[in-house]
Amino acid sequence: MQAQASTVSQSSSPYFDEARSAEVVNARMGPEADARLRQVMSILVKHLHEAVKEIEPTHEEWFAAIRFLTETGQICSDWRQEYILLSDILGVSMLVDAINHRRPSGATPNTILGPFYVANAPEYPNGTNICLDGKGEPMVVAGRVTDIEGNAIPDAKLEVWQTNDDGFYDVQQKGVQPDSNLRGVFTSDSEGRYWFKSVKPRHYPIPSDGPVGKLLGAMGRHPNRAAHLHFIVTAPGFDPVITHIFTPDCPYLSEDAVFGVKRELIAEFNQVDDIDAAREVGLSSPFWSVSWDFTLATSTTPTRATP
Ligand code: BEZ
Ligand code: FE
Repeated sequence: MQAQASTVSQSSSPYFDEARSAEVVNARMGPEADARLRQVMSILVKHLHEAVKEIEPTHEEWFAAIRFLTETGQICSDWRQEYILLSDILGVSMLVDAINHRRPSGATPNTILGPFYVANAPEYPNGTNICLDGKGEPMVVAGRVTDIEGNAIPDAKLEVWQTNDDGFYDVQQKGVQPDSNLRGVFTSDSEGRYWFKSVKPRHYPIPSDGPVGKLLGAMGRHPNRAAHLHFIVTAPGFDPVITHIFTPDCPYLSEDAVFGVKRELIAEFNQVDDIDAAREVGLSSPFWSVSWDFTLATSTTPTRATP
């Protein structure tokens, strides 16, 4: 027996040992494993074992991690996805998005979608006010949708949604806010122009009453998102853009809880204190005026980054 065991060289032994732990685990994958799954799992096992070796957790610490993941799963429901929130606060959602949307310079960049997008929001003619609860500082947003060369893109769909002035989306306050408050779909005209009325967005906390919120607190981080409006802009033949525009004066601009801020997405919000101008756009004075263009790239396939 002993002679037979000694013929198995140390470097290919199937038995677990600390130094070769990831190699031993990865060697178990069978030939029928899908090639991409093999790649993904072997990289994950390699990095996970490296992390455990670097951290050297006690049993108590490892069980605390298991408990955290269990609670994260237990709080998930049809309308709450705590794992996406975890991915968001760790910057992984933004990283996956960046990898999949490497656009040419000049194109409007993507940012995080977030959990409060609702498909089939009401379609409105340009100029409509999407604020249905009357709270907040009035604002008009206007601009163009163009391609990279500056040519107008007519008939582009612009879906917009934002929180109300109390910092909640309509779907978080059903029965409190009017349905579809502060969301709507607009269509660019023959010159690529769009415009609508709303209220200046304000910062708000991501849902922080679950395990992810507790983790943020334990790490000395706050749950606030920098004030923003969400947009999805689509047009046939162009790469759809899922993005935000941010207010320039938000105190959380440089510390957004989900790393969603990109410099190119910070807009100018100009306060207009002029009764005639206010009357012209159908708002009270003063109001905020935001001029914002979307630049769409033609449909692209994701490319791998050069190392
Ligand atoms: C949002 O912007 O709506 C959002 C994004 C990530 C997590 C929670 C909310
Ligand atoms: Fe949001």
